[in-house]
This record gives sequence, structure tokens and C-alpha cells, in this order.
Amino acid sequence: MTNPADIVAEFKGVTKSFKFGDDQIFALNNISYTLHKSEFAVLAGPSGSGKSTFLNVLGCLDKPSEGELFIEGENITYEPLERLYDLRLHKMGFIFQSFNLVPVLSAWENVELPLLFKYENKTIINKKVEKALVDVGLEDRMHHKPGQLSGGQRQRVAIARALADTPSLLLADEPTANLDQSTSLSIINLLQKLNQEYGVTTLVASHDPDIIERANKVNYIRDGVIA
Ligand SMILES: Nc1ncnc2c1ncn2[C@@H]1O[C@H](COP(=O)(O)OP(=O)(O)OP(=O)(O)O)[C@@H](O)[C@H]1O
Ligand SMILES: [Mg+2]
Repeated sequence: MTNPADIVAEFKGVTKSFKFGDDQIFALNNISYTLHKSEFAVLAGPSGSGKSTFLNVLGCLDKPSEGELFIEGENITYEPLERLYDLRLHKMGFIFQSFNLVPVLSAWENVELPLLFKYENKTIINKKVEKALVDVGLEDRMHHKPGQLSGGQRQRVAIARALADTPSLLLADEPTANLDQSTSLSIINLLQKLNQEYGVTTLVASHDPDIIERANKVNYIRDGVIA
């Protein structure tokens, strides 16, 4: 039996449907799923199977259409937006498939932004930003803006932003999809190190065999259903 205190996130019968014209698309269809503390879990599945939707709902960015979401044992399905914002800011790190960087800000400023909402001490913030950018190998691109960076470099800025404050839960949507193999491996090593050394619970949507190989748990999703 799992100790309930070891459960970080849980879906109970979660369905997420989108209306599209006269159609209704079930991106997630009655999913039950448990993510345990310090797990390195992978969600794999073909394009359009529901992986990004799964991460968005688990990360409280989107509400389930039906079913319930628990974070650390608390049913947060009906919590107001401000509470969900707070939960994300303090507990979660996100690496989005589309990076979601602020185009007018430099790499440094993008990584710094969420920290400005959490810390007042500028020395602490600077240390965290610098370490994160060095960790992802961007020490020579700190003051470039996203438009002046390659796809892989943008991805690494997004990763640095997610990891700068060592979240308790990291959600990563295809974090190595736009990277060459050697950068991919260094990012995977970094994710694994954070998971093993700091116990960061990690859920990655990916079909990258190098990521799947490191996972403690792999689930396959197809047409919104977990196999
Ligand atoms: N806002 C939306 N409105 C309508 N349909 C949507 C919306 N978001 C997602 N979908 C649909 O839900 C399904 C799942 O999409 P999702 O982005 O979760 O897939 P995915 O597994 O992440 O795919 P990929 O590997 O290509 O990133 C798709 O059929 C998609 O078209
Ligand atoms: Mg996706």
C-alpha cells in the first residue's frame, strides 16, 4: 500500500473535452493516474494522444471537464484561479512544448521573472539565474533575446527558468524535441540529477528513448486513454 503522503498528484476519472464546431474532442477520457513523490515518470504516446493536455490539467493550467485533481492529497478541482496560480508559482516548474518565453526579455530576464515574484533579495535571485543558465550550457547567451537564439537554445532558457528555483514538481513537455543528441543528453542528465539529488518529482511527456530509459515509470496514452 502506498502511503498517501507519498502521492504528489492524482487524477480521479479525469476527462477533458474541447468543443470544436459541432464536434466534441475528448483529449483525456476518464483517466485515473497517480504520481508519487520523487518519481521520474514518463508519459509517452503518439501526436494528438493527449500528452500536453494531461500536463496542462495536472499542472493546474487547465480545469478538467469531469473528474477531480488532487495535489498533495488536497482536492484542488474547484479552487479559485488565484490559489492555483500560487500553487504553480511555489511548487511547480514547467517546460512547455512551445517554450512560452517572453520575446522582449533576454534569456537572463526570462529566467529571473518568476523569481522576482518570490524573492526580494537580488543577490539570491542573481545566483539562481546564473547557476540555472550555466547548468543548461548558456553562459555565453545570457543576454540574448529569444529571437536571437536557436530553437534548442530557447528550449534551454525555458528549462533554466523551470529549474532555477528547484520546484517540488517538474512538468516537462517534450523537453528534448528540438535539441541535438549531445545537448539532449546533457539536459536529460540534468533532469535526472535534480530528481535523484533533490528529489524533484518529474513528469515528462516524451517519446525520446533516452528519457524513457531513465524513467521509474512509463505510461502510454492513446486517444486520451492510458493503456
Ligand atoms: N484548445 C483545443 N481545442 C480543441 N481541440 C484541442 C485543444 N487542445 C487540444 N485539442 C485536441 O486534443 C487532442 C490532444 O492534444 P494534445 O495537444 O494534448 O496532444 P499531444 O499528445 O500533446 O500531441 P503532440 O505529441 O503532437 O504534442 C488533439 O486531438 C488536439 O487536436
Ligand atoms: Mg503535445
